[in-house]
Amino acid sequence: MSEKSNVKPITEQSIREAALLLREAKLVSFPTETVYGLGADATNDVAVAKIFEAKGRPSFNPLIVHVPSIEIAKSLVKFNDTALKIAAAFWPGPLTMVLPRRDNCPISRLASAGLDTLAVRIPSTASARRLLEETERPVAAPSANPSGQISPTSAQHVAQGLGSKVALILDGGDCAVGVESTVISTTGGVITILRPGGVTDEDLAPYSQHPVQFAGEDSSITSPGMLLSHYAPDCPVRLMATDKKEGEAFVGFGPGTAEFETTNLSASADLREATARLFSLMHDLNKNQYKAIAFAPIPNSGLGVAINDRLKRAAAPRG
Ligand code: TXA
Ligand code: MG
Repeated sequence: MSEKSNVKPITEQSIREAALLLREAKLVSFPTETVYGLGADATNDVAVAKIFEAKGRPSFNPLIVHVPSIEIAKSLVKFNDTALKIAAAFWPGPLTMVLPRRDNCPISRLASAGLDTLAVRIPSTASARRLLEETERPVAAPSANPSGQISPTSAQHVAQGLGSKVALILDGGDCAVGVESTVISTTGGVITILRPGGVTDEDLAPYSQHPVQFAGEDSSITSPGMLLSHYAPDCPVRLMATDKKEGEAFVGFGPGTAEFETTNLSASADLREATARLFSLMHDLNKNQYKAIAFAPIPNSGLGVAINDRLKRAAAPRG
């Protein structure tokens, strides 16, 4: 291939470059033992928004946050005894745990899709941990493929699928595991497999007195993003609003509603900015007791499709 390539072999220098790019809110693809990740600074809403933009995700699924050590994981989420035992046994490795966010958790609300829990893992690939240490920020990373396509297990897969949408692709050869990590929750000491992966129910069984469960098709925790009413604030949500009714909060998009809006997703009608603000804005508005939250229309293209998907869920009848 003659075109200029953003693929670089893993060296101490390319890892340092990648860490700098991540700190500047750019996207970097890096190998883990499972698949190649599409990484962004997990503390930065705009950087995380770029992940959804690059993948062309139709909706904002909660992402896995990668950290280099259990100490750092403990600073983000609350571990129970079962989770501590599992961390000691399986980390670093292809296992992700969904745990409650700490009150002061600095991770982007967009990364955890507005949920009060966060998925965390320590990858076993040494260069990935080295990158996480050098970046000094937790890194949100789904698989580095366009939405709906096959997960990448080589740098070439990433380059073919995402190419110029990533600032840098670190090439560490083929991934050893080749499928994504096993995702579990440990609420109440019960291990529930939310996404099967290389670590099996049999591997996990010794770490709880309760039998290991699999989240069923209709489980509320299988894929929280897919539940119709899930991202709902306490009060009703009104969509396609062009005015503000009494007692409502009005959320504008673009110019034109400044006289009566409570806040605006993006005054310049920038969908990336709107995505970055969406969940933290809903959390903030939810602290006040509005009669309803009214959202101005959002264009239904690019990231707007995902924003509208989430807003539709927030406005859906509560089950
Ligand atoms: O192997 C892997 O895990 C790869 C590599 C790059 O590390 N990463 C990956 O990330 O697959 P991602 O973000 O695509 O995986 C997200 C999975 C989804 O199944 C999602 O539903 C679940 O984790 N998840 C994330 N946060 C969650 C939460 N708060 N509650 C329940 N499930 C959550
Ligand atoms: Mg994926």
